[in-house]
Amino acid sequence: MSVLKGQELRIIGFLCNWCSYGGADTAGIGRFVQPTDLRVVRVPCSGRINPLFIMKALLYGADGVLVSGCHPRDCHYAEGNFYARRRLEVIKALLPALGIDPRRFEYTWVSASEGRRWQHVVESFTMQIHDLGPARRLPDAPELDVLKMVAAE
Ligand code: FES
Repeated sequence: MSVLKGQELRIIGFLCNWCSYGGADTAGIGRFVQPTDLRVVRVPCSGRINPLFIMKALLYGADGVLVSGCHPRDCHYAEGNFYARRRLEVIKALLPALGIDPRRFEYTWVSASEGRRWQHVVESFTMQIHDLGPARRLPDAPELDVLKMVAAE
């Protein structure tokens, strides 16, 4: 399953370096087949994710955004994912006010050893985004360049 429904959508994944990026790597090493819609941005910790990363990605052309960090109490920086979880819940609640379907944003926790879990997370979120279809584009929205956006922050 490389491309779902014959069309690739734009899904941005913000993954913490210490757990979820490792989980994605484990899935790759295990050759677990996944959809190819996800574009990964590696961040040091889920607590490093500025809510604007998610808002801007969704406003400027991403069809979905997935955040994944270490399981609670496993954060490399002790509490980063607890801070992240509070912010991410607020973002989810605010999205409808911006005219964005909250199902276009999810967050989860995946450890470096959970390659199978990572595969399942990517598959189910990608299917969810495909069921929603491409997101509405803002008129005059600049081309989405998440790496530049993160670097400028
Ligand atoms: Fe992974 Fe903090 S280091 S969530």
